[in-house]
Amino acid sequence: MTRIQFPDGFEWGAATAAHQIEGGNWNNDWWQWEHAPDSPCVEPSGDACDSWNRWRDDVAVAAELGFTTYRFSIEWSRIEPEQGEWSTASLDHYVRLGEALLEHGIEPVVTFHHFTTPRWLADQGGWTEPDTANHFGDFCHRSAERLAPVLRRACTINEPNIVAGMAHQMGMFPPGTIDEALHDRSTAVFVIAHRLAVEAIRAGAPGVPVGLTLSMADYQPTDGSETHHAAALASEDVYLDAIKGDDFVGIQTYTRMLMGPDGWTGPAPGVAVGPMGYEIWPDALAATIRRAWDRTGGEVPILVTENGIATDDDAERIAFVHAALEGVMGCIEDGIDVIGYSYWSLLDNFEWAFGYRPRFGLVDVDRSTFERRPKRSARWMAEVMSANALIAPTTIGS
Ligand code: GCO
Repeated sequence: MTRIQFPDGFEWGAATAAHQIEGGNWNNDWWQWEHAPDSPCVEPSGDACDSWNRWRDDVAVAAELGFTTYRFSIEWSRIEPEQGEWSTASLDHYVRLGEALLEHGIEPVVTFHHFTTPRWLADQGGWTEPDTANHFGDFCHRSAERLAPVLRRACTINEPNIVAGMAHQMGMFPPGTIDEALHDRSTAVFVIAHRLAVEAIRAGAPGVPVGLTLSMADYQPTDGSETHHAAALASEDVYLDAIKGDDFVGIQTYTRMLMGPDGWTGPAPGVAVGPMGYEIWPDALAATIRRAWDRTGGEVPILVTENGIATDDDAERIAFVHAALEGVMGCIEDGIDVIGYSYWSLLDNFEWAFGYRPRFGLVDVDRSTFERRPKRSARWMAEVMSANALIAPTTIGS
């Protein structure tokens, strides 16, 4: 049996985000976007996984499977429902979640912004307005102070590159205004917001590691792709160059993208494609870890904060994660400081404009009873985590 040991203390996690699992987050820009008459969303988030009420079930299933970390996000529109109005009760809710995780030996990893923005702030121009960075800094400081006793790792902004691109290049995220100038403005605001957030979280929760989580793809050039390939790399580099001095960088990788003279070529012939429309390409993870490590001069430890596959076929999920982890192992063997791996996602949940169809979860959630049922892939992950070793999929019974 193939068995390759991970370093001691390697962090094994699963990730979620507030809007994708809590349900009823009506006070943010995404809820509005889902319900807009011309919304590109296939369905609204609705009750999601009802994790606002059923968070104990999430903690229980994460503990049962043996995760050592759990990454969740705090919902700004619940904590600051109107400008300058702070909800103690909402912050207390997240503290209780953190306490329950710690009681089960799971370290809370908290994302301060995962795609959703309070309505009052979106109405003021959201991420294209420089003042939003200051509002975010205030939110981070206040939240970090309250969460400090349970916070073990902080992620400032989740995939700002995706938010800016989807909002202002693709029109798939709110506000959906396609405009290159707005894209560039929001990128600049995100960079400033991240720096302010690092300071604010360090001040509010001294000693807690803080970093950004970045969406990366393995962009590969083909003939004539120079301009588009360089632009794709630059869209990641603007953030990789802005994280000097951070405690870690979160890498979130799902796929490879072949670049051509007109941009992404789409999936290559003969390569399997998932419901998100991109290639199923587990080797992309190692490629992006290596690129991030090189670009940051080998000075910023790397945490895989997201990697995963949307599939209804659990054998395919196991094979994907196994292959991705082999790549992670190769990076570690080459001396890259990879401190952990967090699968996206613990639960089948609301996949933004795609709704509930793509199933990224290790745990199935019944859409009418909200019952959580670990899949076969979750059982395999549990074995990998308890051995702290890569165990070949074929050695695991069903
Ligand atoms: C993202 C987000 C998650 C997604 C996941 C699967 O990367 O888009 O962090 O919210 O659900 O990546 O697409």
